[in-house]
Amino acid sequence: MKRIILIGYMGAGKTTVGKALSKELGIPFYDLDWYIESRRRKTVPQLFAELGEDGFRKIEHNMLHEVAEFEDVIISCGGGTPCFFDNIDYMNQQGQVVYLKATPEVLYKHLLMGKTERPLLKGKSPEELIDFIHEQLEKREPFYTKAQYTLDVSLMDNYEKIKITIDKLKEHLGIDIAEIDK
Ligand code: S3P
Repeated sequence: MKRIILIGYMGAGKTTVGKALSKELGIPFYDLDWYIESRRRKTVPQLFAELGEDGFRKIEHNMLHEVAEFEDVIISCGGGTPCFFDNIDYMNQQGQVVYLKATPEVLYKHLLMGKTERPLLKGKSPEELIDFIHEQLEKREPFYTKAQYTLDVSLMDNYEKIKITIDKLKEHLGIDIAEIDK
């Protein structure tokens, strides 16, 4: 049974890697934010606006417990998921957790280019955004680094490099999966 859980800051490429890996391994991909949106029939920004961040985190925690029970899946979490409640410890119990690590500069570039609406970043100027990423990463890294495996995705800026990243991840997970299957 494979259950691979991807974590990392906003803009690290969790969804890109998750989808590519899902195709390679032939197992379904779940994005926790999308799962929350379909279960609650509301967007993440709507949930933040209506319930505040605390309310969103409670829902996120509950929904994590639903998806992380599914078998043979790849799950990508929101950037904050591992940093609330005991979520990271639970994830480590449930599956193979991979931290997709990128530098603040790379994350900044991706977030500026990205079209996704992210409540935590709303209204920030480019200068405020880079400072915010630095500050938040410092607070979040202790949670992210509890993952069993860290993959540097800073250089993942074209298709070839994405493929190399996926191959590295597969190689690593392949070894682990073989051991688990024994
Ligand atoms: C958040 C990240 C978002 C989403 C929410 C909060 C965070 O997910 O869950 O906006 O706290 O970092 P992505 O990392 O997929 O953007």
